[in-house]
Amino acid sequence: MSVLRVVSGATEDEARRGSVYSGDLLVFEKVPPMAELCAYADALIRAAFETDNPVRAQFELDRDEYLSRVETLQKRFRKDDTAKELFLAALGHVGVDLRRTSWDWLYLRVSPHGDEYAGRRTAKLGFHRDTWSSNVYAQTNWWAPIYPITAGRTVAFYPAYWDEPIENTSRGWDLEEIRAGTSSAPVVPEPAETVDTASELRPVIEPGDLLCFSGAHLHASVPNTTGVARFSVEVRTVDAGDAADGRGAPNVDGEAPRVASGWFRHVEDGATLPEISHVRPGSAV
Ligand SMILES: [Fe+2]
Repeated sequence: MSVLRVVSGATEDEARRGSVYSGDLLVFEKVPPMAELCAYADALIRAAFETDNPVRAQFELDRDEYLSRVETLQKRFRKDDTAKELFLAALGHVGVDLRRTSWDWLYLRVSPHGDEYAGRRTAKLGFHRDTWSSNVYAQTNWWAPIYPITAGRTVAFYPAYWDEPIENTSRGWDLEEIRAGTSSAPVVPEPAETVDTASELRPVIEPGDLLCFSGAHLHASVPNTTGVARFSVEVRTVDAGDAADGRGAPNVDGEAPRVASGWFRHVEDGATLPEISHVRPGSAV
């Protein structure tokens, strides 16, 4: 069973990766470059919504205008070199060996209050494992709130499913078909049976902290009815050595037909991660 572990300072990288592959949720507290990134993102968000109260911006704008500004903001953020440098510095600060690390892209997630402002870019994510779509079992997720969060606006984990399979739609989820626009599958694979939420964990961390977890964890956005939007930033990394050696989290139930190695590029030189072998469900890693 996985545990939530609070960490101060850097950890030895191989030990950290092993801990993540065994299902631990790691909270790195007070990471200076992450605090800087929060301040930097705050300025971008204020400018995007032209407001002094970014977490309440939805109450100042109609839905279409809000969603259009979210889209502009997210596109800007994804290409922002300062944001990338600060996130990379945060990863380096907690001990990630950047020489052997690839990542996908920085994503600024916006989760407004209620359902009314839910759109393609602001809808809450249902129960999923990222590995149902990526098939990369060394995939490690990094997540950080920009503004204070509560148990009512965070990400939830279901650790009882770490080593328990759940029926899901990954078998029919072919990323080539999704890309070609010929798939009728949902954006991400989803459970095909009712999720038992008894083991739910809702980490509440501070702006400046960094949560690190395996992409194989079953997780979901908490439905936000707090009256305050959640802004968070996330990225996914893969350690090239572990990917090549087949080290990673166990695959208990992921059956997507392809491995999305191509999503990940080296953090420094941008080289695509070499192809990773397919880990079949039930195989020990
Ligand atoms: Fe996810």
